[in-house]
Parts: sequence; C-alpha cells; structure tokens
Amino acid sequence: MTNLQIFLDTATEAALAAGVVLRHYLGKLEDMIIEKGRPGDLVTAADKASEAVILEVLHRHFPQHSILAEESGKLGNQDNQYLWAIDPLDGTTNYAHQYPFFAVSIGLLIDGVPQVGVIYDPLHNELFKAATGLGATRNHCSIKVSKTSELSKSLLVTGFAYDRHETSDNNYAEFCHLTHLTQGVRRSGSASLDLAHVACGHLDGYWERGISPWDIAAGIILLQEAGGKVTAYDSTPLKIESGRILATNGYIHNNLSQELMQISPLSVWK
Ligand code: IPD
Ligand code: CA
Ligand code: CA
Repeated sequence: MTNLQIFLDTATEAALAAGVVLRHYLGKLEDMIIEKGRPGDLVTAADKASEAVILEVLHRHFPQHSILAEESGKLGNQDNQYLWAIDPLDGTTNYAHQYPFFAVSIGLLIDGVPQVGVIYDPLHNELFKAATGLGATRNHCSIKVSKTSELSKSLLVTGFAYDRHETSDNNYAEFCHLTHLTQGVRRSGSASLDLAHVACGHLDGYWERGISPWDIAAGIILLQEAGGKVTAYDSTPLKIESGRILATNGYIHNNLSQELMQISPLSVWK
C-alpha cells in the first residue's frame, strides 16, 4: 500500500468517527452553542467533540505530523512536511439550526500542497475521498466534474465569511453580479460540501473570500482529482493561506475569473 493510501485510510477512519459524534449531538445542543467573537460565528460542543476524535486518530497514527485544526489551532512542529488541515464541523450555523447540510473535512498538505482529502456528510452518509493520482470518489464510486462551458448555463455556489459586517470586501457585489450572469448562485453554508458538489458535477463553480485552509484543503484535492481546476481569483496558482479561492469544472474557469476580477465592492452593511 502506498503512503497516500495509508493517509487516505486514516483520514477516512477519523472522518467516519467524527460523523458519529456529529450525528449524536444533532438537535441536542441547547445551551452548548456560543459565538466565538464575530456575530454569527458559532462554536458548539459538537465542533469540539468532533475535533477531539479526529485529533486522537491522527495522533495515534502519525504522532510526528503537524496539525492545523479550526478549534485547536496549530499543533505540533509546523515545519513538518505533513500538515493536516481539519474542519471538524464545516457548516456549524446549519448544524446549530438543524439544517441538514454540514460535513467533516480533513485534508493533508504535503510540502504545502493538498494531496489527500476526505469530506464526510454524516446525515446523507456521503463520503468523498481523493488523493493525488488515486482519483476522486463518492461512496467508492468515481466522480467527475460537469461539462458546462458557458456561464449562462452554469450553476454556481459561494459563501460569506464572518467578517462580512465589517468590510466592503464582503462578496455581496460578486454574488449579485454572478446571479445575473448564470442560472443561479447557491449559498449552502458548508464550503467543503460546495467543493465536493462541484467535484460531482452537481455545481459548475465555486468562489469565496475570507476562507481558511481547513475549509478547503480536502476539497481542493477532491476537485482536482475529479478533473476540476482550482486557482486564485485571477487564475494564478492558489496560495491556500490567501483566503480566496476560485474552483470550477475547468470549462468556465477563465470566464468566471474574468468576471470576478472586474467587480467593484458594494458597501459595508450598516
Ligand atoms: C463556514 C462555511 C461557510 C463559509 C464560511 C465558513 P464553518 O465554515 O464553510 O460555507 O461560507 O466562510 O467559515 O464556520 O461552518 O466551519
Ligand atoms: Ca468551515
Ligand atoms: Ca468549522
């Protein structure tokens, strides 16, 4: 078995265990939901319990590896070539409202490049997996991006970061502009599942600003292995720490990039 397959199997073990935790807490949180700082940026007992389970599995298998986890931050020696980027509950707002769209996202960067990704939607029991050169699957079936090549025929998805109240760079203008040019823009509330559904061909493209490595590390390799393209807004190579991502089926990439580059911000929401 190759190292990548071993990493993939371990990430799968962790994601499935975290999924059990998320199913357990769903609808039982009551006073276990708090705001982390910015309005609407929630953390729940489920986020923390899910992250603890994932960390236990990864530490047991790979005690030397570095970790970047949403709730615990950086753990271990960050100079290690292996860095796990973990979102124990991507879609916390959905989860807190029992809106059934959230996931566990576990990605492995090797020398800064996403190479292994597992995204698990525990309510629909959908397990998305990919590793460099090993393809992309949903519940063990191979997945592929759509062939939509015109923006006017595309269905897109995006999200809005928690600093949206504080900055004119809040993605509102982009959302309006692209809503008019396409068959629609969805806002699901789970960036990892957005990328997974572009990888499956249900959606044709995704962009977002203010996003963190744990939101997108797994989805990047999933989409690339499904035949998609991932870059910065201007089509240059993505820097995962930049907080901006453009991810598409490849066919609409240049057109969507050009549109994103010409949009001026609306205003700060008062
Ligand atoms: C959020 C979701 C959402 C995206 C936000 C993320 P969280 O993650 O992925 O779709 O628009 O930018 O922060 O807080 O639910 O883990
Ligand atoms: Ca997230
Ligand atoms: Ca999260």
